[in-house]
Amino acid sequence: MGTRRKIIAANWKMNQTIAETESFLNDFRLEVEDVSGVDIIIAPPFTALAKLSELLGGSQKIRTAAQNFYYEKSGAFTGEISATMLRELYVKYVILGHSERRSLFGETDALINKKVHAALESELKPILCIGETLAEREAGREKEIIATQLRGSLAGISAEQLLEVVIAYEPVWAIGTGVTASTAQAQDAHAHVRAVLAELTDAATADKVRIQYGGSVKPNNAAELLAQPDIDGALVGGASLDPRSFAEIVKAGGRD
Ligand code: 13P
Repeated sequence: MGTRRKIIAANWKMNQTIAETESFLNDFRLEVEDVSGVDIIIAPPFTALAKLSELLGGSQKIRTAAQNFYYEKSGAFTGEISATMLRELYVKYVILGHSERRSLFGETDALINKKVHAALESELKPILCIGETLAEREAGREKEIIATQLRGSLAGISAEQLLEVVIAYEPVWAIGTGVTASTAQAQDAHAHVRAVLAELTDAATADKVRIQYGGSVKPNNAAELLAQPDIDGALVGGASLDPRSFAEIVKAGGRD
């Protein structure tokens, strides 16, 4: 603990046109001008990725992520985007297994596992999302669900590869609801994630992996969440659409 650099990511989901992306970035850059010591990631929709990369011009401070991709290299996969296409736009990270992909688009741990392998082979860093539903938490099954999702999505991944992966713990009941997991609930789940990662690899490797919390992260709760020993960042939906509120969350994870 203590050596993991915080990583704050914006997941814009199906929001922000190219024009809105440009306007966001103009304001956001001014807000975070003096911030350091934190990794800042923006995951726009595919249509805004090229523009965002161009505007960032190879910035080391702010990196881009895709919200999804397909694991095949090319071919007859209508509507899909490959890792090569993302790499051409200097994309560094890819969000995989988001609960919206799992619940609305039928993504399974087996499919996500293929994507994790393909991402790593193409030097894209996966931001692997996991998390239980409200019914699963109410049934006291959250730890079992977290472990199953991690084992399935990370099957066949070596310790060395795991160091390239960011885990995002996003309890489904906290996404877009305004209900945040309490800091104690979040820390407890994160410690469990790290324990499962240690089982899959070893304790030293698990200790280096960054685990983000996602689910109604806002400027007023970010600092407390990020102060927990196993919370190494945030994956932010709604509050990342506004440059000032996303900047406040970034500042909670960095120095200025
Ligand atoms: P909200 O921050 O809107 O709850 O969304 C969280 C999320 O799903 C980020 O991936």
